[in-house]
Amino acid sequence: MCGIVGAVSQRNIVPILIQGLQRLEYRGYDSCGVAVHQGGELRRARSTSRVAELNEMVAVDGVEGLVGIAHTRWATHGVPAVHNAHPHFSHGTGHEAKSAKAGRIALVHNGIIENHDELRADLKARGYAFTSQTDTEVIAHLVDSLYDGDLFDAVERAIAHLKGAYAIAVFCRDEPLRVIGAREGSPLVLGVGVGENFLASDAMALAGVTDQIVYLEEGDVVDLQQGKYWITAKGEDGAARSRVERPVKTVHAHSGAAELGPYRHYMQKEIFEQPRAIGDTLEGIEGITPELFGDGAAEVFANVDKVLILACGTSSYSGMTAKYWLESIAKIPAQVEIASEYRYRDSVPDPRTLIVTITQSGETADTLAALKHARSLGMTNTLTVCNVSTSAMVRECKLAYITRAGAEIGVASTKAFTTQLAGLFLLTLTLAKTRGHLSAEQEADHLKAMRHLPVALQAVLALEPQVIAWAEDFASKENALFLGRGLHYPIALEGALKLKEISYIHAEAYPAGELKHGPLALVTSAMPVVTVAPNDALLEKLKSNMQEVRARGGQLYVFADGDTRIESDSGVHVIRMPEHYGALSPILHVVPLQLLAYHTACARGTDVDKPRNLAKSVTVE
Ligand code: M6R
Repeated sequence: MCGIVGAVSQRNIVPILIQGLQRLEYRGYDSCGVAVHQGGELRRARSTSRVAELNEMVAVDGVEGLVGIAHTRWATHGVPAVHNAHPHFSHGTGHEAKSAKAGRIALVHNGIIENHDELRADLKARGYAFTSQTDTEVIAHLVDSLYDGDLFDAVERAIAHLKGAYAIAVFCRDEPLRVIGAREGSPLVLGVGVGENFLASDAMALAGVTDQIVYLEEGDVVDLQQGKYWITAKGEDGAARSRVERPVKTVHAHSGAAELGPYRHYMQKEIFEQPRAIGDTLEGIEGITPELFGDGAAEVFANVDKVLILACGTSSYSGMTAKYWLESIAKIPAQVEIASEYRYRDSVPDPRTLIVTITQSGETADTLAALKHARSLGMTNTLTVCNVSTSAMVRECKLAYITRAGAEIGVASTKAFTTQLAGLFLLTLTLAKTRGHLSAEQEADHLKAMRHLPVALQAVLALEPQVIAWAEDFASKENALFLGRGLHYPIALEGALKLKEISYIHAEAYPAGELKHGPLALVTSAMPVVTVAPNDALLEKLKSNMQEVRARGGQLYVFADGDTRIESDSGVHVIRMPEHYGALSPILHVVPLQLLAYHTACARGTDVDKPRNLAKSVTVE
């Protein structure tokens, strides 16, 4: 994770660096920092607070310059503390912004250096003093140790010693108008301006500064100067590095600086945006056709007879929901794998598999690595359901369905999840049609239900006051169980993830029929048991599972479809949903679970949009 910005310009670049950091805070917010070349020295300011405070620090300290780098951190090596905050200086001795003297090399890093221990031992033996626990400081000293008057050369030589993933931005006290960037396994873009050039982890950081973007490729090193830049690529099979041209793309990146409007938090705003987000995601769809997924989709779909979904976190739960749809509607075998597991396990590849990655950000390191792993096993039919059209994932996959949730700022995924479900339902219908399992009448019925989703979602959002009343009860709990069956088991999983992620209440989800095989032992009158109760074929089975909970004194909190006839009773609290919505019911049922997590977190006073220890985009493994 972590966010990087770098700049070489003819104007003071500190405001651009700070603005870029504000837009990259979604990548981590344990600490932040900025360093510039000023008065012939390196100067920096670092803070364990938010970027807004860093902005005040640089103003007070008068930190400014034509060249600089900045960073927002998600801690991997070393606790969140100022001494571990980036930028790191070679020979760093803790000099801060006011110090006249500091090191020679300033460096920021996103990623993980796996061989940092060996490198640290070697550098220590050569007299380098370490002031942090980070793997990043190792790279700063390494570049310093290889520096012989040409920073570009030193960085090229340094990266040859690194094992792991990195995107770095570096500048040197002795070469005042130059920043070097390099990437391997972590994203980095070059922003090309007029008489100035920039680096960033994400083009969004440069919105309004430049829309001319070069997506650096694995192994690239870039030299930025005021009016020029060049890039070298690693050689194939051990050949020497050589200069390359990379295409400059015009990218209309959104700054992500959405207004909160009447909402208290971005998460609440994003929950309430779901009718619009689903409407936008489905806009213009008149009929089911492979071309919805890009050119060449018909040929790809004709050549697959199973689906393997790869994703992490919330996105894996939309994948689990899709598995039910794919097998029941499209009659195609479907499997879902957590990306971080799949990439390291022995599996049996089948070239007639459609690999489907699901990712809001399109930058999740585990999901990208899982995709590459699948491809290396000969499975080249790849499709992504992704919310960011300019992301690495969209560039890597043959086919894509771009959800139009809009920028999701809250760390807890909400509108991205429901729009993924919409995209995956379309994929299901498309594969069903390709395979002869979708009649014209069924297609028309499904499309009608999809078009009605925004209205149906509004009706569910209107339940918010009832959910707030429950949230007051939940705020004092330390544990919660979530139950669902079939298509709604992944929704129970998602509800539990939302609650634990932002309220820090321990929550587990089970398929309701599994309760008696162990988790029932946890049920007491202190245990709220949230039950997702759609009026589907499993309702009677679910009711029996609810009785098992009541018989042990458990408190049931049931989201029941209007037509289920589940009534409130002693120990049974019911919020009545609209009538059952058929196959698309998960898209409605997840919404009150999002609201429950949100209002419980508010009642507990947590940092809802930036929960502790997490980051929006997980770009390290
Ligand atoms: O960007 P991605 O969809 O690939 O992210 C995957 C997970 O990191 C993400 O869904 C995470 O679980 C959310 N914070 C959950 O709300």
